[in-house]
Amino acid sequence: MVVKEFQISDRNIVIHELDDLYDSTTGRVLTGSWVWNSAFVLAKWMATQCNLFDFDFRQKNVIELGAGTGLPGLTAALLGANRVLLTDVEPLLPGLLENVDANGVGDRVEVRELVWGSNDLPSQANELGEFDLILMSDLFYNSEEMPHLAQVLKIISGTDTKIWAASEIRPWTIECITELINQGFKITESPVQHDESHEEDNHKILDSFSIFHLRQEERNL
Ligand SMILES: C[S@@+](CC[C@H](N)C(=O)[O-])C[C@H]1O[C@@H](n2cnc3c(N)ncnc32)[C@H](O)[C@@H]1O
Repeated sequence: MVVKEFQISDRNIVIHELDDLYDSTTGRVLTGSWVWNSAFVLAKWMATQCNLFDFDFRQKNVIELGAGTGLPGLTAALLGANRVLLTDVEPLLPGLLENVDANGVGDRVEVRELVWGSNDLPSQANELGEFDLILMSDLFYNSEEMPHLAQVLKIISGTDTKIWAASEIRPWTIECITELINQGFKITESPVQHDESHEEDNHKILDSFSIFHLRQEERNL
């Protein structure tokens, strides 16, 4: 296990990243075991920029989908959210619970399995009700998953729900965005400056990130 500390504005957030977590069916490594750059980008943006969108975390009910290690959701709690629900696939839940404890927010943050596309999803999501804010980071990598993600978003959002999704801009990001638009979401984009660069094939790559703001075009009432 690796323990990392993230400086988000004036807050220090402790995240445990788990090793050797694999999907028991596919044998693939569970990508939510570590913190993706998009999670850090979203957490920082929430702490510094979201007042531009007139959002106050106090008294808010927040959910993070595909939370992985939970950095944005934990940031929401530290910014004053009333209740935060961190969700992901079952093998990642112990790590999320550890991160809730490590940051002393167990009184306001819960952890729960929520798998988009599963048979139980509609009833599980209906039980949750609507949230004031839905957070997602680095979930736009497979456009075939987007109809499942859209189904969850439609169940847990209301007319005033804010939906913020951070993503690195990769060739397939636009395919995911296009699919979400096809699923009935209006999407606007706030590009974000992320000043961490890395060497790849002797070229300096400066990754670009955006925060996407989603809302349902028409609501089926
Ligand atoms: C690239 S990781 C990003 C993790 C975290 N949000 C971050 O940015 O550090 C994608 C996450 O989505 C979750 N995920 C993928 N498909 C999912 C599904 N169908 N239902 C629930 N979670 C899913 C994975 O388990 C993983 O935690």
